[in-house]
Amino acid sequence: MTRQESQEQRRTSPETGAEPTPIISVRDLVVGYGGPPIIDGLSIDILPGRVTAIIGGSGCGKSTLLKSVVGLLTPQAGSVRVAGHDLAALDEDALVGALSNVGLLFQQGALLNSITVAQNVAMPLEVHSRLSREVIALTVRLKLELVGLAHAAELLPSELSGGMKKRAGLARAMVLDPELLLCDEPSAGLDPQTAADIDQLILRLKDTFRMTVVVVTHELASIEAIADDVVMLGRGGVLLFSGSKEEAQRCGVPEVRDFFARRTPEAGGDTRPLLDVLEGRP
Ligand SMILES: Nc1ncnc2c1ncn2[C@@H]1O[C@H](COP(=O)(O)OP(=O)(O)OP(=O)(O)O)[C@@H](O)[C@H]1O
Ligand SMILES: [Mg+2]
Repeated sequence: MTRQESQEQRRTSPETGAEPTPIISVRDLVVGYGGPPIIDGLSIDILPGRVTAIIGGSGCGKSTLLKSVVGLLTPQAGSVRVAGHDLAALDEDALVGALSNVGLLFQQGALLNSITVAQNVAMPLEVHSRLSREVIALTVRLKLELVGLAHAAELLPSELSGGMKKRAGLARAMVLDPELLLCDEPSAGLDPQTAADIDQLILRLKDTFRMTVVVVTHELASIEAIADDVVMLGRGGVLLFSGSKEEAQRCGVPEVRDFFARRTPEAGGDTRPLLDVLEGRP
C-alpha cells in the first residue's frame, strides 16, 4: 500500500464514508531561521481526534515544524492551515484568536523562572481572556489539579523536578482548553516510570477534553503507548512516512523499519542508542 493510499484509507470513516477534515494541513512548507531552509517543501495532514507521533533524527526539523504550526515561524513558502485557518492569511487579532485554540508544551519547558508555577500557568489566560482574577485563579487551580500539581502552585520552576516541570508545562498548554495540543518531547530526559506517567496523563487529558494531540518523541515506548498515527521526517525535513502506527510498524521504508525494529536485547533486536538509529549511525 502506498503512503497516499494508506492516508486515503484512514480518511474515510467506515460508518459514514465521510472524510474527516485534517486539523493541521501543511502544504509545500518552506521554513527556516533566515539561512537555508530547515524544512524545504513538506506536506502533511494531521487528522482530528488522534494522537500523532512525529519522529526523526535530531536536527531534522521536528521542533521547527511545531513552531510553524503555532505561528512562531513564518513560512518562506507554502501554507499551514490549523483548524481551517490559513495562518498566513490571518491578521494579527485573528491569528491570536486562532492560536488560542492550540496549546504547545515546549521542548525545554519554557517556564519563566522568576514567577511561580501558578503564575506561569495563568499567563495565557491573562493574554487571551478577559476573565477576572478570581476566575483565572480558579481555572489555574483546576488545571494544576488535573496534572497532579495542586501542591506546587506557589513553587518556582527551579524548585520542580523534571517530571513536575513537564506537568506544569502541560497545565499551561491546556489552560485555554485548546482543541489541539502539541507536545515537544514530553518524556525526554525522564526516568521510564515518570515518562510513562506523562504519557498516560497526555492520554487522559486528550480523552477528557476531546483534543487532537501531536507529540514529538524519540521514545518507542511512548509511541507504542499513545500514538495512533506516525509521521517520520528525514534530513532537511523531508517526509519519510505518514500513516497509522500499524502501517508504520509494517513499513518497508528503511529508516522507519530500523526505528521500529529497535527492541530490547532479550527480543534479539537492534540495541544501538535510538538517536544513532534515527541518524543512520552504525
Ligand atoms: N532559533 C534557531 N535559529 C537558527 N537555527 C535554528 C534555530 N532553532 C533550530 N535551528 C536549526 O534548525 C535545525 C532543526 O532544528 P529543530 O530544533 O527543528 O530540530 P529537531 O528535529 O527538533 O531536533 P531535536 O530532536 O534535537 O530536538 C537545526 O539545524 C537547528 O540548528
Ligand atoms: Mg526538537
